[in-house]
Amino acid sequence: MTLLKTLGLSKHFGGVAAVDQVDISVKAGEILGLVGPNGSGKTTVLNMLSGFLAPDAGEVWFADENVTRLSPVQLAHRGLLRMFQMTRVFPRISCLDNLLVAGMAMGLPEKEANGQASALLEELTLTPVQYLDAGSLSGGQRKLLEFGMCFIKPPRIALLDEPFAAVHPVMRETMAGFIRRRHAQGQTFILVSHDMPIVVELCQRAVCMNLGRVIAEGPTRTVLESAPVIEAYLGSTSHA
Ligand SMILES: Nc1ncnc2c1ncn2[C@@H]1O[C@H](COP(=O)(O)OP(=O)(O)OP(=O)(O)O)[C@@H](O)[C@H]1O
Ligand SMILES: [Mg+2]
Repeated sequence: MTLLKTLGLSKHFGGVAAVDQVDISVKAGEILGLVGPNGSGKTTVLNMLSGFLAPDAGEVWFADENVTRLSPVQLAHRGLLRMFQMTRVFPRISCLDNLLVAGMAMGLPEKEANGQASALLEELTLTPVQYLDAGSLSGGQRKLLEFGMCFIKPPRIALLDEPFAAVHPVMRETMAGFIRRRHAQGQTFILVSHDMPIVVELCQRAVCMNLGRVIAEGPTRTVLESAPVIEAYLGSTSHA
């Protein structure tokens, strides 16, 4: 069953076609990899999927509803949540309180929010720092906290924008394990990442973008080994 799809999704910034006629679809229960060189339009796609940016043209369908003009809050309440490339947590309250605030925002009763928060702190290895201000955590710990905030009420689909970037390998494995376990329980994801070994391991299917367009899609390994994708990466001027 298709859970999320786009039809002709497009966004221009001045003269730049950041996203150009993009059609992608995500099946319930899969981890779809969204890859492509720097500046290829991946974050802009996630911004439009999650309501942070209005498309110039095209549609977003989520669970058979046209959600193109809905706000991030409306989408979150329908179960579509995204994590940011630049981590967003509340720096001046504790790790635990960040999770409880996320729980309240999602309408969880206090008791349930408390239970979920302590389970997530444990799973994400954040229990020892639960009373520290989120602003004092390391970049990797903040990222783990953002995972927890996203999953305090498990979403129907989670959009992850480069969760592994600049994160210590031990924490990267904590995140990958978290994603693997949720996937085994049926959780759907879109994963944007430049970490190809992890993309190959976690994603059954991948879509590759270049210059705002989809240039390949299919089984992850086939996509990454295809000529247009190799050419796009070799032709890009920057590396992540
Ligand atoms: N708010 C904006 N204003 C102007 N141009 C933008 C804006 N956001 C993105 N762009 C441009 O749109 C294009 C796509 O950017 P986007 O951030 O979506 O790429 P990306 O694939 O996520 O790249 P990266 O892998 O580096 O994160 C780039 O050329 C970028 O400079
Ligand atoms: Mg990006």
